[in-house]
Amino acid sequence: MHGIVTGGAGFIGSHLVDCLVHNNWDVTVIDDCRTGGTHNLQRHLDTRAITFLKKDLNDDGWQESFRNADHVFHLAADPDVKESARDPSATIRNNFTATVRVLEAAHHHGIPAIAFTSTSTVYGDAPVIPTPETYGPLAPISVYGATKLASEALIAAYCGTWGMDAQVFRFANIIGSRSNHGVCWDFIQKLRRDPGHLEILGDGRQAKSYLEVHACVDAMLHVSGKSPPGYQVFNIGSEDWVDVRSIADIVTREMGLSGVEYRFSGGARGWVGDVPRMLLSIEKVKALGWHPRIGSQESIRVAVRALLEA
Ligand SMILES: NC(=O)c1ccc[n+]([C@@H]2O[C@H](COP(=O)([O-])OP(=O)(O)OC[C@H]3O[C@@H](n4cnc5c(N)ncnc54)[C@H](O)[C@@H]3O)[C@@H](O)[C@H]2O)c1
Repeated sequence: MHGIVTGGAGFIGSHLVDCLVHNNWDVTVIDDCRTGGTHNLQRHLDTRAITFLKKDLNDDGWQESFRNADHVFHLAADPDVKESARDPSATIRNNFTATVRVLEAAHHHGIPAIAFTSTSTVYGDAPVIPTPETYGPLAPISVYGATKLASEALIAAYCGTWGMDAQVFRFANIIGSRSNHGVCWDFIQKLRRDPGHLEILGDGRQAKSYLEVHACVDAMLHVSGKSPPGYQVFNIGSEDWVDVRSIADIVTREMGLSGVEYRFSGGARGWVGDVPRMLLSIEKVKALGWHPRIGSQESIRVAVRALLEA
């Protein structure tokens, strides 16, 4: 099998590349390294196990690599909700416009299947919790969520018009080694700078579902092999949630710190576009035979240990 992984030098993408190489796929990574980096892929580059194209998907010069590919895993994106409020046009370009271009290349080369990494933020402030894939109307409250929802719509249209298969993954919060954003990473950076205090965005009561990155990639590959044809959407996450204050407790404990003073920035939302309560129904992916082995708290512990060891 020949797989294209856009965003393969990033956090989740590089773990996906590890698994594909392990399963003997020919892998081509396209990434401009704006947030990821080749350090995440070094061992595969050293052994020439993958082809790496350092390209911005909004430029040309990568489309030919799609020739004869069996599957596109499209992960490249600006993944930060906060950033999408600061620079919405960059998020629109790297999330939506880049997806348009990936779909065009996939269609041009007759690639049968695409996997797309979407997000729980497409649900906005959904009152139905756990939120199933069938929940609607979908009303994201961030530009990031809107670019992902717009991308989903276009992927559905390509499937309907040209008979492509697609697996759209709406991820909860994914955490683990190689991440360089998100709450665990953020708390560790802050506590390394100042082990006595921790600034917590919001009131600390935001409760969300967290999944460790190896489980996330395992779910993606499981579904890719078993999904029914056509356009399919799958929530991927843990079956429980954990609040931000508890995450701070886990991080401080894992770092061996005590007496850390928490300072809350206040408000129910940590930042513009923050969805304070997020738990996804994962019944659909469970029906395909995948289920998370650990819950959100344990996932946080595993992820924090991995980040501290790096
Ligand atoms: N981490 C999470 O909790 C989470 C949750 C939901 C969805 N997602 C989605 O999963 C995917 C991977 O996220 P991540 O957390 O690994 O982020 P990441 O920033 O580590 O990875 C994204 C990669 O895409 C690359 N990229 C961005 N724009 C590009 C462009 N125009 N051309 C080429 N490469 C480009 C970056 O350099 C980076 O390596 C993203 O689509 C993200 O939206 C992540």
